[in-house]
Order: sequence, then C-alpha cells, then structure tokens
Amino acid sequence: MRTQVGILGAGPAGLLLAHLLHRAGIDSVIIEAKSRPYIEGRIRAGLLEQGSVDTLTEAGLADRLHREGLAHDGMELRFNDASHRIDLHGLTGKRVTIYGQQEAVKDMVAARFATGRPLHFEVEDAALHDIATDQPRITFTLDGEMRELRCDVVAGCDGFHGISRAAMPPEVLRIYERVYPFAWLGILAEARPISHELIYARHADGFALATMRSNTVSRLYLQCAPDEDLSQWSDARIWEGLHQRLGGVNEGPIFQKGVTAMRSFVAEPMRHGRLFLAGDAAHIVPPTGAKGMNLAVADVRVLAQGLTAFYRGQGMGLLDRYSEICLKRIWKVQRFSWWMTAMLHKFSDNDPFEHRVQVAELDYLVNSEAARTGLAEQYVGLPYDV
Ligand code: PHB
Repeated sequence: MRTQVGILGAGPAGLLLAHLLHRAGIDSVIIEAKSRPYIEGRIRAGLLEQGSVDTLTEAGLADRLHREGLAHDGMELRFNDASHRIDLHGLTGKRVTIYGQQEAVKDMVAARFATGRPLHFEVEDAALHDIATDQPRITFTLDGEMRELRCDVVAGCDGFHGISRAAMPPEVLRIYERVYPFAWLGILAEARPISHELIYARHADGFALATMRSNTVSRLYLQCAPDEDLSQWSDARIWEGLHQRLGGVNEGPIFQKGVTAMRSFVAEPMRHGRLFLAGDAAHIVPPTGAKGMNLAVADVRVLAQGLTAFYRGQGMGLLDRYSEICLKRIWKVQRFSWWMTAMLHKFSDNDPFEHRVQVAELDYLVNSEAARTGLAEQYVGLPYDV
C-alpha cells in the first residue's frame, strides 16, 4: 500500500488533518487502534475556541456544529459565594462554542467516509520504520493480515499513549511535565444547566465547574483525588458537593461518571525526519480552560499548510518550521491552562496563604478590565501564527 501521508490516530488531530489534506488534493490513509464506537463515544471537554469553529467551518465540517452547538458570549468566575461574569465577546469581539468533542469526531468520521478514502479501525501492532529517511513506512495488522504502508510523511496523531512519540530517538526528545495532586470527577446528567454560560468555581472544598452539552444535559465537574475511587461517590454525595461549591445546581439522573487526570506535558521537538507529531501525542494540558482539542486544531492547521506547500513544489520551508511555530502557541496555552488550574484548585489541605493569594488573584481579575481582557483573549483563543 502507498499513500502520500500516513496518519496514525483517528482523534480530532488525525481526522481534521486527513480532511484538510483531502481538500488540498493530498492523499492519506488513517489507521486507528481503537474501534469506531470507542472513539465516537470517548467523552472529552466540549468547548471550542472561535478559531477552531472557523477552521471547522472553512473545512466544511461544521453543519451540525452550527445547528446544535451553543455559542457563549461570556463565562462566570465564582469565589467567596459570589459569581462574576466575564464578558468574553465584549472584551474580544469573539465567542466560544459548546459542542462535545465526540460530536466533532463523529462529524469528521462521517466526512472521511464520504470521501471514500481509507480509515481503518482496530488496527494492531502498528510500528514505524525509516522515519529519518524520505520513505517512511508503517507496518500493522488489519483483519489478521500483516500490511505495509509506504508514505512520504507520517503524521503521529495517536495521542499521549500512542506509538509515534515513542518512535522518536530518546536523545532528540526533551520532555517537560507537571502532574497535579488532584483530578476531576465529571458527570453527565439529564438536568437543565443552572446558567446558560459556564461557571468556574473556586471553593474552600475544591474546584467545581458547571458546563453543559445541551439545554437539557448538564456536564458537571468536581475536584477530587487523583486516585479517586468512584464507588465512594454516590449520586447524593456528588450532588451535595456540587451544590456546596457552585451555590446550587439542578439535579437529574446521572448517566455517565468518570475521573479525568490532570497533567501538563510537552515533548520537543514535534518532528523527527519525516515524522510529525500533532495533538496529544506531543502535548497534554489540564482540562481547566478546555484547550486540548483547540491545540490539536492549531497544530493541524500548520501541518496541513506545510504539507500543501510541500506538494505544490514550494519545498520543506514551512514543514521545517512546523515544530517551532506550533510550540510558540503551545507554550502560551500551557501557561494559560496551568494558571487557570493554579488559581482555581485547592492544592493543599491547610494552607491559608495559598487560599488568600488565590482569592486576591480572582478579586483583581474581576475588578480589572486589563486583567479580564487578558483572560478573555486566551479563553476565546489566541490568533493563529500562519
Ligand atoms: C466541558 O464542557 O466539558 C468543559 C468546558 C470547559 C472546560 C472544561 C471542560 O474548561
């Protein structure tokens, strides 16, 4: 088998890349270790920056997003039992959109199948070869048969636990990492959201977030221990924690519960020879601010432009700068996600100094238009470099 770009992973990064390349007349093959129901059901954050929405719209992938997504012009910060609205649109002229990541994935899988180009699920034993040469190869097993895919370029979009980053020689990789001493317990419930916008709460008991998937489905999160045992959290205990931290929520049947680990992670560089990493394969942000999928979109925009220039005979110039261009944005978004996390979570059980500093920071933020503008600019999404 031969293609121009071999893509590992059918998450937002791999699927969007395949679609942008297809529109530029560039062929690709996507292979994915998991099944289609698994990737279409995987619950992740659901907040898209204005730029991500624009990118999906320009790519022709946003029909359902525009019908079902909820556009938000603001969000709220809650501390000391009071909520303060941040007027995102008034401060930046931009807005964010609530649309579950798995919904965007379903739309992109459907768009891929509509092109007739290959997307193979449940692929086993994938391995990369000759990535430092002009003819990299991917070997894998599909339906019990060993296959080889020869390509010009490999895009490693296979997530944090994928094989792509691991295929880079360890001596060229630098890893930067923070693991947080807490996690998020997240639920989906058949319950009307308390507010039509998001509420981020800092409370003495820990962080909480009220978000949503629709006007009848709430998505709610509570700070918990990293190794939290879900069996210790009855529905009643979850609701009690949410009421306490958010100042009241609407209850309803809980139909999904899970724990999200919190980590900041960057691997540099994002390229080795003809292998390019994109999305979670190269970086992880804690979910505060919901930047994960938005960063994947930003990476893929640069990679698709670089590959388009390459196949149009304009050389490797943009591809040579891929890692540098992406990392400039990634580090700003890492800083933002780390800052939001640090401001809103309880780090230690008894540290009155930490508590006072967090409240002072929030108080400054809600009372300074300059500070609110800084938050808003980053929350709605920084401009793209290329
Ligand atoms: C979500 O809707 O799941 C969500 C929204 C905003 C965040 C994190 C998660 O900061």
